[in-house]
Amino acid sequence: MKFKGADILSTKLFARNDIEKVMRVAGRMEPFASKRKLSDILQGKILAALFYEPSTRTRLSFETAMLRLGGRVITVPAMETSSLTKGETLFDTGKMVQNYADVIAMRHPKEGSVTEMAEGADISVINAGDGPGQHPTQALLDMYTIRKEQGKIDGLTIAMAGDLKFGRTVHSLCYLLAHYKVKLIFVSPKELKMPVNVCEFLKKKGVKFSVESDFDKVIKSGVDVLYCTRIQKERFENEKEYLKLKGVFVLNKKKALTGKKTMTIMHALPRIDEIATDVDSLQNAAYFRQARNGVAVRMALLALVLGKA
Ligand code: NCD
Repeated sequence: MKFKGADILSTKLFARNDIEKVMRVAGRMEPFASKRKLSDILQGKILAALFYEPSTRTRLSFETAMLRLGGRVITVPAMETSSLTKGETLFDTGKMVQNYADVIAMRHPKEGSVTEMAEGADISVINAGDGPGQHPTQALLDMYTIRKEQGKIDGLTIAMAGDLKFGRTVHSLCYLLAHYKVKLIFVSPKELKMPVNVCEFLKKKGVKFSVESDFDKVIKSGVDVLYCTRIQKERFENEKEYLKLKGVFVLNKKKALTGKKTMTIMHALPRIDEIATDVDSLQNAAYFRQARNGVAVRMALLALVLGKA
């Protein structure tokens, strides 16, 4: 894929080469992400950060990535302060924002919304999460984290647990992992299963996966990576349904120690009650390092789409 000027809307469009390229460039960005070196390769470039849904990590790491590479950031503070509430379409907003910025990072509660804006804007639009749909930059930083923690991706058994129905991070991650020789295990309550379209894609690609409901058993089976997810409260139609499923899988230190000694524990964060704080002290609790990796990976993506990598 040609990165320069591209929209990053979904991981479905990534080939193995593209994933490797992002990881390679992210590796080169590490000194700048950690401030060991300074860079101004994106000087003169402007990122429009349009977050119409809550965000801490994604938004701040995008902004930091841009600023630490010498670029600048403009923003609309929230949905309520944007013209969308006056009824402007995302397409039109995209047409406007392209006059003010060189690249857009956008998050919105509706699946497909980022694509609508991308159709209006001629500059690169990066999906920072579209409802229960996709979250490609998170999945790329997840791949980067797995590689860094485990030293490889091929050959691993990776379990994804929790809200696999509404969890956009795991949807995006599956499409990327489909290019590697991995075994996937999906652990969720039956109400929150991995969507059929993702499973169909994996089948077509010949990726081995199994569907389980016993969290403890999966940990004991010796998986290499355990990726926990938050039950996506905001996607439920009624609160009662959410409360029924909240807290289904809780990982604590005792449980984590029943797993493989080298099991990498991941979570896109925020965590609610999926991972107890006593897990944090384990060497293989990788979720805070995972969040940190977001800066280097988003630096890589910004540099690539702006043709400056
Ligand atoms: C995730 C998201 O927004 O989808 N968070 C993130 O970007 N780090 C996961 C979540 O909200 O549960």
